[in-house]
Amino acid sequence: MTTTTTAVIDLDLPGATISRHVYGHFAEHLGRCIYGGFWVGEDSPVANVRGIRSDVVEALRAISIPNLRWPGGCFADDYHWRDGIGPRESRPRMVNSHWGDVVEDNAFGTHEFMDLCELLGADPYVSGNVGSGSVAEMSDWVEYLTRADDSPMAALRRANGREQPWRVPFWGLGNEAWGCGGNLRAEQFASLARQYATYTRNHGGNRLYRIAAGANEADLHWTETLLRSFDDLAADPAEPAGPFQAVSLHYYTMAGSWSDKGDATGFSTDQWYVTMARARRMEELLTRHSTVMDRYDPHRKVGLVVDEWGTWWNVEKGTNPGFLYQQNTLRDALVASVHLDAFHRHAERVVMANIAQTVNVLQAMILTDPDTGALVLTPTYHVFAMNTGHHDAAALAVHLRDVETRAVDATELPLVSASASVKGDTALVSLSNLDAETDRILVLDLRGRDVVGHTARVLTATALDAHNTPEQPDAVAPTDHAGVRPHPRGLEVDLPAHSYVTVALELR
Ligand code: AHR
Repeated sequence: MTTTTTAVIDLDLPGATISRHVYGHFAEHLGRCIYGGFWVGEDSPVANVRGIRSDVVEALRAISIPNLRWPGGCFADDYHWRDGIGPRESRPRMVNSHWGDVVEDNAFGTHEFMDLCELLGADPYVSGNVGSGSVAEMSDWVEYLTRADDSPMAALRRANGREQPWRVPFWGLGNEAWGCGGNLRAEQFASLARQYATYTRNHGGNRLYRIAAGANEADLHWTETLLRSFDDLAADPAEPAGPFQAVSLHYYTMAGSWSDKGDATGFSTDQWYVTMARARRMEELLTRHSTVMDRYDPHRKVGLVVDEWGTWWNVEKGTNPGFLYQQNTLRDALVASVHLDAFHRHAERVVMANIAQTVNVLQAMILTDPDTGALVLTPTYHVFAMNTGHHDAAALAVHLRDVETRAVDATELPLVSASASVKGDTALVSLSNLDAETDRILVLDLRGRDVVGHTARVLTATALDAHNTPEQPDAVAPTDHAGVRPHPRGLEVDLPAHSYVTVALELR
């Protein structure tokens, strides 16, 4: 059976700009994300530039990666940056107690990360250590990275081979301070965030956008406490927020509980729907946290940064439980599209987001084979690739009519998710059919501007857990979508069961 849904879009009513930074990424010293994923070392048989994998860089450049968060995650609050500078052979070692209890040799440090960002063309988002570090240590790191003159830290950077300061736009003040980042109370952390923000200075022309470690899921008290800690945000609309500029939010999607999250493959249809319902929860979380923020910050000076999101499954059998290596299927792709739709809808408050994590960890863009080095692009990667047209475009409201729902976990899951944006004479519409079994027809009721051309892409597969492997790298890959026809109201689009479709419009 095929059912019909309508999406009404006013093409002449652009809303807030969707920052390209909501398509940001996250790379932690965790499992094979940095080591084996990004970093193979100069002597590796895998093609590399100064130790950084060339194929990974090429793949991420192709999706216009806008920023990269590093070095954690929980690892960030154990990390002491001075251990990761200077000659590699003399860098001290440390224990990565959060992730596998392995010994970290600090081969990948500040210079390697900044080199990676330059190769990627991505803005660095450095996550500073509040949990076990000090204000002076963090202040020195900012000086080391961004100061031009002969200050002590700038001189140290030069002695380590880098003459010019780097540009570092994004700075994290701690991570999950309510948990692995110190088990702090909201009130305690809010005071620390003010203090650390004060000493992370703007050197020369570098302007830091400071992001305070924010709430877990629906912890509205955490967000409210951070917002209350600002100097009066309501007073002068022209006065920027300070001493920090944004708060973060973390939310992971799983089909089960933290102790048994469900497997990445071989799941049931019921688990598919539970996953989609949990992914939809991001919309609710953004609404609730934004409502709290609006109360204290009516001029929307403070950004909401979702700097960890994505699926978290049981690790693949036979892999280190501390390395968080999981397969990535068509289901992950639709979890991504549902989140990205929510970020587009909340563009006025959500200034940045970082899917966890880029390579070989959690909901990765890229998986690499530890033995052969072979690289595979995941279904999630393809959603990011299909959505590059939304980067820095103006959000368009999408009004859905006649959307069927399904009862899941005491909520009603809408079976279609959609968002749209416009940039000059082009618009992009993203459509997800979350129905595991039923094909749909969707009428795009396009108003306000003439549509003079269109192209469409579709991402789907026969099995819900279809995924890519070195042997079958394109088992789930986008193809041109022929199922788009003229309709008296605009266009009629075929949405196969469990599919993701983008329609690019040429406007006049
Ligand atoms: O992304 C994996 C971990 O999840 C991060 O280190 C931590 O911040 C979160 O709990």
